[in-house]
Amino acid sequence: QAKSGGAHSKTGSTAMAGGVQCLFVALSELFSAAIRAAFPDMDEVATAINSNSRFGDYQCNAALPIVKRLKDKGVKMSPRDVAQKIIDCVPSSPLVERLEVAGAGFINVFVNKTFAAEQLRLMIVGGVPAPTVPRRRVVIDYSSPNIAKEMHVGHLRSTIIGDSIARLLDFLGHDVLRINHLGDWGTQFGMLIAHLADKFPNFRTETPPITDLQAFYKESKKRFDEDEAFKKRAYDCVVRLQSYEEDIIKAWKLICAVSEREFEKIYERLNVHGLVPRGESFYQSRMQGVVQQLTEAGFLEEDDGRKIMFAPGCDLPLTVVKSDGGFTYDTSDMAALRQRIQEERADWLIYVVDAGQGAHLQSVFACARRAGWLDGGVRCDHVGFGVVLGEDKKKFKTRSGDTVRLVDLLDEGVRRAQEKLREKGRDQELTADELREAQENVAYGCIKYADLSHNRNHEYVFSFDKMLDDRGNTAAYLLYALTRIRSISRRAQVTPEQLLEAARAGTAIQLLHEKEWKLARVLLRFPEVVVRVTEDLFIHSLCDYLYELSTTFTEFYDNCYCVEKDRQTGEVVNVNMSRMLLCEATAQVMTRCFDILGIKTVQKM
Ligand code: ARG
Repeated sequence: QAKSGGAHSKTGSTAMAGGVQCLFVALSELFSAAIRAAFPDMDEVATAINSNSRFGDYQCNAALPIVKRLKDKGVKMSPRDVAQKIIDCVPSSPLVERLEVAGAGFINVFVNKTFAAEQLRLMIVGGVPAPTVPRRRVVIDYSSPNIAKEMHVGHLRSTIIGDSIARLLDFLGHDVLRINHLGDWGTQFGMLIAHLADKFPNFRTETPPITDLQAFYKESKKRFDEDEAFKKRAYDCVVRLQSYEEDIIKAWKLICAVSEREFEKIYERLNVHGLVPRGESFYQSRMQGVVQQLTEAGFLEEDDGRKIMFAPGCDLPLTVVKSDGGFTYDTSDMAALRQRIQEERADWLIYVVDAGQGAHLQSVFACARRAGWLDGGVRCDHVGFGVVLGEDKKKFKTRSGDTVRLVDLLDEGVRRAQEKLREKGRDQELTADELREAQENVAYGCIKYADLSHNRNHEYVFSFDKMLDDRGNTAAYLLYALTRIRSISRRAQVTPEQLLEAARAGTAIQLLHEKEWKLARVLLRFPEVVVRVTEDLFIHSLCDYLYELSTTFTEFYDNCYCVEKDRQTGEVVNVNMSRMLLCEATAQVMTRCFDILGIKTVQKM
């Protein structure tokens, strides 16, 4: 499948930190220069570089569309002639070994091995570099659970996917603000506060010892449903909360704090950092401003006492003001969007929210566009995702039919990972600390990877058995593969310092064996993979890449001796330094991928 320039062409520069180049970008630039020179009268044509070519290392598929355009102008030229004409105009470049026309006008590109080897050497010396892209101010909204309600697996998906996208954008040098859009302003607070006031009348002076907020929620809900007088008091509390009555605000803050402490524990375990808690309440005053602006601009329509807003491309109008004068989820999202652009100066907004809210977010984006808030090239993405299913393919529930609590899920993951490691006798080989590190990193890594490696638009089946399997595209397999690569140099008695020194000293990486070359090509594709992920925000392509890298490494390792040992004594007699460097480059790229995925690696497992 041909891939177009996309964001790559917008990068405008092939340079990356440390002098390493993104081959895809470099080739795109070479070919677009060649096409311009060969067909100066033609409007820009996509270079259509394919990095997954079976025939060359890369392929340029620009000839066919050019033939078509020429034909439209009445010029007849065969695809092969067009391809040859492009080749004749490709500026000379150290990157290209040879170009050839194949089939119906495809151009096969063979990359120069000396050049590729030098790129890999630079990568080891300077670390895996990020491609240069225009820096953007990004606000990414993810996790965003609701206060006093337990975080559920849907929020887990948002947390994992959002964290990984934020890490990716950080890596690319963007200015990233992570927002936890907590549901902290709903009507559920009425009953919670009323119940708190009954149960802990001293709450103004003493902090109530609420440990189980879930149970507390259930208790108050029960009273709310059964007791009319209580229900009335609850409603009353909502009104008093929204008018910022001091005691009520105090009670509200107490409840939020308990909830946030619970969320924090989950984030800590999942290694999710930097999320700024900023709930819906934050936008209360801003909502008035938004309503005023939209009213003055004449965007709001009356509908049965409500004020609604339509926009081109939105099927569902937003309810901006309810008939009782109150605001809605729509209003808070409009206010949040405007705040992010006007106060945070964002030019890229990302919402990692379940697919069920797709229509809501599309309406918010459409109305914001109509209001002119997105002028000047603000990019808005709804990163949706499907529901989590149990192994029975039904909605993920516990045996008793309750929603699964995240803490319990994480605990079970750790327990299962521990079992696996014990089955393999790892508890005999690892120290207690190493074992704990391994079981936690494997458990959380597997949970994250299972989520990230699936196309997020699809629903996915949560299965500990599958995610902890150490065969196939799982974190268990990949983490293990990385520890094996790391152990190669250890067994060869080559220290990391010696490796770095060898690379610095210019030790050439030989790419003579077919499997060495295959591995090198995959390694050098890393920058284009990460840039492509920023275009569609499908993290699973990075996982696919990581898996491909790992299997390609295995092919290399099975075919190419890295270390020679004496058969009898087992003593190391020869170390192939060039291949050790290939191992090192692989370990570095894999580590980088794990970093972006938010997965902690292990030294031993
Ligand atoms: N709290 C919401 C929920 O649990 C998600 C909020 C997503 N973010 C947003 N800006 N609407 O469904």
